Amino acid sequence: MKVIYPGSFDPVTNGHLDIITRCSEKFDEVIISVLNNNKKNSIFTVDERIELIKESTLHLKNIQIDSFSGLLTEYAKRKNCSTIVRGLRAVSDFEYEMQMALVNRKLYPQLETIFMVSSSKVSFLSSSVVKEIASFKGEISCFVPEIVEAALIEKFKGGTR
Ligand code: PNS
Repeated sequence: MKVIYPGSFDPVTNGHLDIITRCSEKFDEVIISVLNNNKKNSIFTVDERIELIKESTLHLKNIQIDSFSGLLTEYAKRKNCSTIVRGLRAVSDFEYEMQMALVNRKLYPQLETIFMVSSSKVSFLSSSVVKEIASFKGEISCFVPEIVEAALIEKFKGGTR
């Protein structure tokens, strides 16, 4: 089965990698798709985010990394894929994820959204929390791969952005 794991990935964290690794074990093909949205205040460009995911997933064989803009449902149709995977960290994620899954199904009735429950070791993690800690020069090595840690340190070298 082919699945799409979409997200902002600004940047990829160990929480995302938990889901990506488990997807790669469960599914034949995993397309990690980075949202290209100018309206979101991303600190990494789409190319940088793609590169960081690439470098962090070199050990996984059945994944592709891509980007998309516009509606996820239209992108999924173009990719000939009708299964989306999203990670659920806590009950607080549920309302937004449920709304997104129902809207997406309305737009593309064949589309299924599969929720994967995050590992409890990383369920507190988010890209925003990691960026906040990095902006104050806090320790982030246990939250992100080394390459992402280095990229965040570089981004915040001159102070908070
Ligand atoms: O990592 P994120 O920011 O939680 O990912 C959210 C994402 C990219 C999956 C979602 O914002 C999305 O699919 N955006 C594309 C626009 C779209 O299709 N919107 C309608 C669904 S509500």
